Amino acid sequence: MYVSFHGHSVVKIKTGEFTILVDPFIKGNALTDLKVENEKPDVILLTHGHNDHVGDTVEIAKACDALVIAPFELANFIGGLGVKTHPMHIGGAREFEFGKVKFTQAFHGSSFETENNEVIYTGMPSGILFTAEGKTVYHAGDTALFGDMKLIGDRHPIDLAFLPIGDNFTMGIEDAAYAVELLSPKAVVPVHYDTFPPIKQNPLHFKELVTSATVHVLKAGEGLKI
Ligand code: NI
Ligand code: MN
Repeated sequence: MYVSFHGHSVVKIKTGEFTILVDPFIKGNALTDLKVENEKPDVILLTHGHNDHVGDTVEIAKACDALVIAPFELANFIGGLGVKTHPMHIGGAREFEFGKVKFTQAFHGSSFETENNEVIYTGMPSGILFTAEGKTVYHAGDTALFGDMKLIGDRHPIDLAFLPIGDNFTMGIEDAAYAVELLSPKAVVPVHYDTFPPIKQNPLHFKELVTSATVHVLKAGEGLKI
């Protein structure tokens, strides 16, 4: 499995056959290396409804007929826009032909703001565990630190975790370093920082604080084979 980071919380997973895109916020994301018209994923996974995570999901999914998997309320909203969806919810797992998806809790909010500034409620925010080819990737979504990260780590050995470090809207560096202790992943990639002024961070400080896992500070477009 090849897993790459594309700025903010955008992650791409490539298995032998399938491409999975997580939280594809591309237009308006000054840090990404991706272009909407070049992305042809088989599947899009969404952690929550905020615009910096749903991003260009609808345009991409319509162009390449990708399946969008999201928490129930968000999946219903996206499905209403003419996109093929599969709703799931926190605690639920399902084996798909491309891998296993399980939604986990996250402490955050979830709503989508339309072009007319209408706010649509999109249910609970979540994290995602994705397992394929014997490896598990955890994308925490946007979240505060919470004690049950230990439960997630105990129940699911994590090969690679994407954790937000931006502070202000999510965990900051010190809480994210503690989250690594609870989750016990083999490796970690910090995400959700530097995109906007309130979430400016030094990811090397996060790397210094983490001693129990390998921290990979990735530039947009860089990835890891796991
Ligand atoms: Ni958010
Ligand atoms: Mn966010």
